[in-house]
Amino acid sequence: MAGHERAVCQGSRRGAAPGAMNAATNTVTFRPSGPLRGRVRVPGDKSITQRALLVGAVCERPVEIVGPVWAGDPLATAGMVVDLGVAIDGLAARERRAVVHGVGLRGLRAPGHSLDAGNSGTGMRLLAGLLAGQRGSFVIDGDRYLRGRPMARIVAPLRAMGARITTRDGERAPLTIDGGPLRAIRHEPPVASAQVKSCLLLAGLLAEGETVVCEPAPSRDHTELMLAAAGASVARRGAEVAVRGAERLDLGRIAIPGDLSSAAFLVAAALLVPGSDLVVSEVGLNPTRLGFCEAVRAMGGEIEWAVTGTDGGEPRGELRVRASALHGTTVPAAATPSLIDEVTLLALLGCFAEGETVVEGVSDLRAKETDRLAAIVEIVTALGGAAETSADALRIGGTDAVRPGGARILRGGALDSRGDHRLALLGAVAGLACPAGVTVTGFEAATVSFPDFSDVLAEVLPS
Ligand code: S3P
Repeated sequence: MAGHERAVCQGSRRGAAPGAMNAATNTVTFRPSGPLRGRVRVPGDKSITQRALLVGAVCERPVEIVGPVWAGDPLATAGMVVDLGVAIDGLAARERRAVVHGVGLRGLRAPGHSLDAGNSGTGMRLLAGLLAGQRGSFVIDGDRYLRGRPMARIVAPLRAMGARITTRDGERAPLTIDGGPLRAIRHEPPVASAQVKSCLLLAGLLAEGETVVCEPAPSRDHTELMLAAAGASVARRGAEVAVRGAERLDLGRIAIPGDLSSAAFLVAAALLVPGSDLVVSEVGLNPTRLGFCEAVRAMGGEIEWAVTGTDGGEPRGELRVRASALHGTTVPAAATPSLIDEVTLLALLGCFAEGETVVEGVSDLRAKETDRLAAIVEIVTALGGAAETSADALRIGGTDAVRPGGARILRGGALDSRGDHRLALLGAVAGLACPAGVTVTGFEAATVSFPDFSDVLAEVLPS
């Protein structure tokens, strides 16, 4: 196999099926394999695909989704939508075009068994907003990682809207939701979160009055854009976004752009591997997701992007990146939500940059698929780098940092994905850049967002 060696442990199999987070552990070693060159596309955006499935479910007429990503998280969300009585053509065969046969804003039906959000925080939190205003009693559960994640951030404001919700241990899944009438609220979450905002906007569709969410910094705005495209009354006023109760939604057709957060793994590899020159085409370039590209540019990275079209308010286009000498940067807290899923990669880039890299406002990373902040520090340190957290910031030592053993560059080694897709993929990129390569245990976690990562990588590595 081109570029990297697969060392698959007993009981595992090549390319675990999307969503099949089975017990088998897939161990893969990634090594320096030459420059990444050429033009490539990445799978559809996970956040937008999940929103299209959920919004499509409550539309009045069928919604065509072109280019969904059938990775673990969207498959889990699609499964819940089907359990709620909504037919989805193209799901069983994982086709490039799906049709969601929406049942109307209040038409979701309780299945009589619990809904399984799998590993997906987006699926659980956004669906909770929609179900709070339906008729019937619903239980949403998830895997052991999702069961450990905080849900008070949605449960408290939903209760303020009049929702009846019970949780495990005061704030964990499974969530039991007894749907009923909702009233609009104004909510100011202490931390920017697109999942919280989207949950409340979806509940707001079913509430009387105007529901307002005011965030401390802007999070991704895919829900707002999609609801506006579906005919809802959505308004952005500075830091606030407001939605009014709706009668009906009609999305029609939506094309999903490539996932910039998946592209970011290839971008980081291309920046670090000498001689690389890579173009990612048809990728989502929503300004609320561009923080990583902007930080790379601030680090001296040769990166450029251009919008070539817009669909449902979502810009898409082309991204070009070349291997670059990097220097450290500081990402202020206000910009962190726009790169929240790329902090792992920024940490890796920081290890190869001259001078310190600091990312401020990172405490919410402790509430991701795993405690990603602790994991970044452990992984960077284990691979031979220097990382620490202080107050609400992550600090990464650059090439000039003094390291045990006198090494001036990350040497490589091994890491465990901890069941977190972004850590599994971080290990792959680190392996391409570190002289000793990186062995990733639990690489199957990558299927949550980027099931065909190894194949896409093979397209751009020398054969
Ligand atoms: C997501 C929002 C982000 C992000 C997650 C997907 C979404 O989480 O980390 O991968 O689809 O809305 P938060 O909104 O909790 O920061």
